[in-house]
Amino acid sequence: MSNKKKFAETMEFPPEIEQPNVYPLSWNRESDKLQEIWEAHLREYWQPEKLPWDTFDVESYSWEERESIAYWWTLLSVFDASAPPVFAEALIKTYEIHEEDLVRKCFFSVTSDEQNHEIMCGLAITKLLDHPDPITYEPKTEIGRRLQKNAKWLYFNGARYWEGYKKAVPKYDIAVLFSSFLMGEIAAATIFKQMYENSREPVFKEAFKSIGRDEGRHMAICMAVMERDYPGLSDEHKATVTKQIRAGYLFLSAVLFEPPMDFWDLPEDFIANQREGEEIAREAGFGIPTYDEKLANWKGAILNLKGVLDRYNIPFPAIPEVGISGEEISDVEMDDIIPVF
Ligand SMILES: [Fe+2]
Ligand SMILES: [Fe+2]
Repeated sequence: MSNKKKFAETMEFPPEIEQPNVYPLSWNRESDKLQEIWEAHLREYWQPEKLPWDTFDVESYSWEERESIAYWWTLLSVFDASAPPVFAEALIKTYEIHEEDLVRKCFFSVTSDEQNHEIMCGLAITKLLDHPDPITYEPKTEIGRRLQKNAKWLYFNGARYWEGYKKAVPKYDIAVLFSSFLMGEIAAATIFKQMYENSREPVFKEAFKSIGRDEGRHMAICMAVMERDYPGLSDEHKATVTKQIRAGYLFLSAVLFEPPMDFWDLPEDFIANQREGEEIAREAGFGIPTYDEKLANWKGAILNLKGVLDRYNIPFPAIPEVGISGEEISDVEMDDIIPVF
């Protein structure tokens, strides 16, 4: 037996527990709206494996088409496959800081939804390429080879933000983290609606419908927490939010629009290859929005977000790429990135 003296021998009640500590023993509820969203998550839960895969005749597509459609799913995975660990990390934070019960539940639901999105990417890629990994896959066509080079560069770039993110989570308030998440969720909800409307293949249509619905709920979670926390936001936090919105624009543009070349580290032929692949996928009935549709969608999502932040007097960054003026933010690096999809 150890000879260390026990606290219980010297005091009637245990000493204060050092904070932040991993778990609360409390189930406080402030935001009723979040209970509705949590219940919708349970009701709307779906399983990518149970989609009508038997209706998908992959052989009816040429190899150029298969590789081009798989490329889009790979591009999406660069964002969606990083989302489960990103939200799991944020979920732990909600327990450490003893967030109310409903916020903890909602973060759990986002983590679970995002894992579904990542599972869906994996199923689509594996079926299209007849191989479970787009990076080690042996391309069969010339465009397939160029798209794989693109995929490798995207993956490399996406990997750069994880260390920064892990450092950012303990540093920022949950309210600041939310502004970054919201950016991704607003844009995601719109793009999946477009993908649903423009896609021909039933299994993809179904998936886009479910993913779009999930993203809509994620957006509603962000809005509810912002309504709770933003009225009292300090100027310092406001400035961080402004910077995060600019960072979010630069980061998410790669999947929602086109990657800004001075922020992303990509080869010169990247955009030309991507446009070519997207055109092949589109011709094959896979609903990737055109350049103009993407631009309109992205601009709409950003204006939406601006509308939300204006309500709380949070300065909006300039986003000249889509014609929005505001505060100049120039020093954004990959390791400043918090946003996810
Ligand atoms: Fe997602
Ligand atoms: Fe999401």
